[in-house]
Amino acid sequence: MHIDIISVVPGLLEGPFSHSILKRAEDKGIAKIQLHNLRDFATGKQKQVDDYAFGGGAGMVMMIEPIARCIESLQEKRTYDEIIYMTPDGKRFDQPMANALSLQQNLLILCGHYKGVDERVRERYITKEISIGDYVLSGGELAAAVVADAVIRLIPGVLNDETSALTDSFQDDLLAPPVYTRPAEYEGMNVPEVLLSGHEAKINEWRFEASVRRTKERRPDLMEKSPTKGSDNQ
Ligand code: ADE
Repeated sequence: MHIDIISVVPGLLEGPFSHSILKRAEDKGIAKIQLHNLRDFATGKQKQVDDYAFGGGAGMVMMIEPIARCIESLQEKRTYDEIIYMTPDGKRFDQPMANALSLQQNLLILCGHYKGVDERVRERYITKEISIGDYVLSGGELAAAVVADAVIRLIPGVLNDETSALTDSFQDDLLAPPVYTRPAEYEGMNVPEVLLSGHEAKINEWRFEASVRRTKERRPDLMEKSPTKGSDNQ
């Protein structure tokens, strides 16, 4: 997978992408992330990328020309499966969206700033608009990092344990069960006996029941999404 990210502050993204699994995915040649500074596509001495909003009002708007130049120069190198705009008024990001994006080859992500981009950018170039939640960040960069992380870790070969991404919370509309590691007893706090039993079927049953219980307690809305899940326990 190749992910291009367009930003006015690409430095914000250098940290997240040079560490952890994103770095490992890159080292293994599974996913490559390339940052592009929008200012490199601005003209004039000021290298202007934003301007006042027509009609007045506070806040600047990202101009179409530098974005168009940047996107079109990238499109000469690659055909994109999706051109994504990170924005709080986009579709709420979730696990099914991450799963679908992880199957794509080439993604382009545009990070918004200020009051957002000129609407004509959205009309002409954007194929998907994503929000990571109902709050406003100062720019789309951290949101783009969230999406890239959630997507890349799903690509086969990125995680060491191939099955682990499939057992994450949300993959099944259920939260993940509690997990434990050594020591089996810590200051009187014991790991559930069944997990020490070595009995795989019983362990799986315990985990499923713990998942259902946790989901009912913390996220009953997820259970409603999927009426068959855990209906025997209601
Ligand atoms: N840009 C600013 N806030 C955002 C959000 N919540 N999700 C995606 N992009 C954003």
